Amino acid sequence: MTRAAADAVHLHGSRMLIGAGLLDACGPELHATLQRRRLAIISDSNVAPLYAARLAAACGTPSPTVLTIPAGEASKTRQQWSRLTDELLDLHFGRDSAILALGGGVVGDLAGFVASTFLRGIPVVQLPTTLLAMIDASIGGKTGVDTRHGKNLVGAFHHPVLVLADPTLLGTLPVEQLRNGLAEAIKHAVIASAPEFVWLATNGRAITRTGGPNAALADQLVRRNVQIKADIVARDERESGVRKILNFGHTIGHAIETLSGFAMLHGECVAVGMVVEARIAARAGIGDPGLPEMLIDVLRQVGLPTAVPAEMSGDAILEATRSDKKARDGLVEYALPAKLGMMAGADRGFAIPVPDAIVLDVIDSSR
Ligand SMILES: NC(=O)c1ccc[n+]([C@@H]2O[C@H](COP(=O)([O-])OP(=O)(O)OC[C@H]3O[C@@H](n4cnc5c(N)ncnc54)[C@H](O)[C@@H]3O)[C@@H](O)[C@H]2O)c1
Ligand SMILES: [Zn+2]
Repeated sequence: MTRAAADAVHLHGSRMLIGAGLLDACGPELHATLQRRRLAIISDSNVAPLYAARLAAACGTPSPTVLTIPAGEASKTRQQWSRLTDELLDLHFGRDSAILALGGGVVGDLAGFVASTFLRGIPVVQLPTTLLAMIDASIGGKTGVDTRHGKNLVGAFHHPVLVLADPTLLGTLPVEQLRNGLAEAIKHAVIASAPEFVWLATNGRAITRTGGPNAALADQLVRRNVQIKADIVARDERESGVRKILNFGHTIGHAIETLSGFAMLHGECVAVGMVVEARIAARAGIGDPGLPEMLIDVLRQVGLPTAVPAEMSGDAILEATRSDKKARDGLVEYALPAKLGMMAGADRGFAIPVPDAIVLDVIDSSR
């Protein structure tokens, strides 16, 4: 706890603490940040039974109210937002209250959106419980809900006042969810840190073994990835420039995710997307031709897919990338790696238009 506090990462006024045991020991930190605010824990139906009582106990008296949503993306809706805000109003929560978001990215995004709008905005503390939420979703202040027109289309920027990540909570996370987060960790390594890539290639198998990563591995994994994402977001809050590099693997990845009808996990789609986009970079003559094979090697180690699903045609994938918000003037723009740890196109805002013929060709050779 003290070591975690000493290592705090700061971003837009949020303190981010990472440490084993933080869930049970977060009382003093919460009180120092929120003083005597009235607290509501928002969690989901998987996480609440595992961890809400421990968080409530750490908060002390008066005990926080616990509001629970059904687990899963289907809960990230305006209906759940209405239900939660109504419940808070029914319980007479006022401007002197705060939200504790305890869960994965679904809870974090929804509870963050509740906090950003409730009585025009109250503080939120993010307590991420998935690897993806610890190293990605809880950092950067994006909150929101899904709509029938697409994911995350209604939302707000609302930075948490505090992020508390206890990597020991990953011990109960199903392995496919661990892999889901690892895809983003591998992305972080490619875009910003060659040493992190080497570390993942060395430890990937141990991280995904049955029972989850041991405490030391989980701590290092979370700590370094939080630092990478926080550094990138700090350099660019509103996605005008450098933050675009976080889209690596996501242009093709989102297209595959949509075409799978969201049957594939986001991380699985990003894994395939990274392989395809690294090949596009090599084919366009701006990326290291050795990178795709290095990526495939580390993705296989952690059990992530590397090939485009056979049933998805190149045309369908290309068409789906066009409807992605990153498409401008017909040519789809990509965030492409120059080499391990470095993205191409710094002089062009890291957005590189690629001719359709190259994309189609690469997709066809990636099955
Ligand atoms: N705000 C952002 O910047 C940002 C970035 C990336 C992703 N996201 C969003 O995050 C969401 C995905 O987040 P996610 O992958 O964490 O999914 P999730 O929140 O649905 O969690 C995945 C599953 O794991 C369960 N779970 C969570 N923690 C657990 C634990 N410790 N032990 C056992 N089970 C646990 C959950 O109940 C759920 O069933 C998406 O909605 C995505 O849009 C947001
Ligand atoms: Zn992602």
